[in-house]
Amino acid sequence: MGQSKINTCVFPVAGFGSRFLPASKAVPKEMLPIVDKPLIQYAVEEAAAAGLKQVCFVNGRHKQAIENHFDRNFELETSVKDTDKEQLLTGINQLMDSCSFASIRQVEAKGLGHAIGCSEPIVDHQPFAVILPDDLCVNPGGESVLQQMVALYERYQCSIVAIEEVPVDQVNKYGVIDGEEEADGVFRVRTMVEKPAVDEAPSNLAIIGRYVLTPDIFKLIADTKPGKGGEIQITDALMKQAVEGRVIAYRFKGTRFDCGSVPGYVSATNYCFEQFYKS
Ligand code: UTP
Repeated sequence: MGQSKINTCVFPVAGFGSRFLPASKAVPKEMLPIVDKPLIQYAVEEAAAAGLKQVCFVNGRHKQAIENHFDRNFELETSVKDTDKEQLLTGINQLMDSCSFASIRQVEAKGLGHAIGCSEPIVDHQPFAVILPDDLCVNPGGESVLQQMVALYERYQCSIVAIEEVPVDQVNKYGVIDGEEEADGVFRVRTMVEKPAVDEAPSNLAIIGRYVLTPDIFKLIADTKPGKGGEIQITDALMKQAVEGRVIAYRFKGTRFDCGSVPGYVSATNYCFEQFYKS
C-alpha cells in the first residue's frame, strides 16, 4: 500500500462537459473562468498548496488550451511587459515555476475510472491525488481540502475520498458511501455505490471531486468492467479496496461548488467575487 509522500496530482479533464454546452463546445469547461481565473488554475493551485508539485493532466483531443495555459506565451508577455497588466500574469507564472507538468491522452472518454487509469505511466507506483477541476473547493483562512486529505493520508495510509452531505433527492448524481464513523467526519467505508436510485442509496454522503489513491488502484481499475452509464467507474474500483477496509471517506472542512453545472458555476462566481476580489 502507500507509504511514500504524495507528489503527483492527476487532473482528469478529458470529459465532454456536455452539461455546459454550448459554452464547452470549443472551450474546455475547465478553462471557464471563475471571475478572471480558469477553473483548472484554481485546481492546480490547490494541489501546489498541498505540496503536490507534479501535475498530470489526463486530456482528450481538442482540449489543448489546458496545456497552453501552463506554458509561456511570449508574444502576449512582451505586449504587456512594463504595463500595469503585467502583474495579472504573476500568479500563473509563479505556479508554472513551482510545478512540473505532464499530459497523457485518454483516447476515448470511457469514464472517470478509466481516465485515472490512463495516468499510471506518469504516477508510477506511488500514492497520488486526484482533483476534478469542475468541483471548486474553498476553505478561506483554513487548510485547502487537498491539504486536509494529505494530512489524513499520512495517518491512515490508505485511499481517501472527500464526501459531503447532499440533499437526499440528489444522491443519484453521485457516488454514495456508507461506513463507520471512526472520528469526527472520518468514516471507514463499508460500501459505495455509483449514482444509486434515491430509495436505494446507503446514505446521503456523496463523494466529491477529491481523492487520494494508493497505487494498487491501477490494477483494480484495469480489472473493473464498465458500470453505471457504460463507463468504467472509479467507485467500482475503490469498492474492491473498501471491502478490505482500505478506504476512508472524509467529510472535509470547506465549501464545494459543482461548477460542471450552471447553478453551481454561478454560485462559485458570486462567492469568489465577494470573497477574493471585491475590495
Ligand atoms: P463529469 O461527468 O462531471 O464531466 O466527469 P464531463 O463528462 O466532462 O461532463 P458532463 O457530465 O458531460 O457535463 C468528472 C470529471 O472526469 C473527467 C471530466 O473531464 C471531469 O473532470 N472525465 C470524465 C474524464 O477525464 N474522462 C472521462 O471519460 C470521463
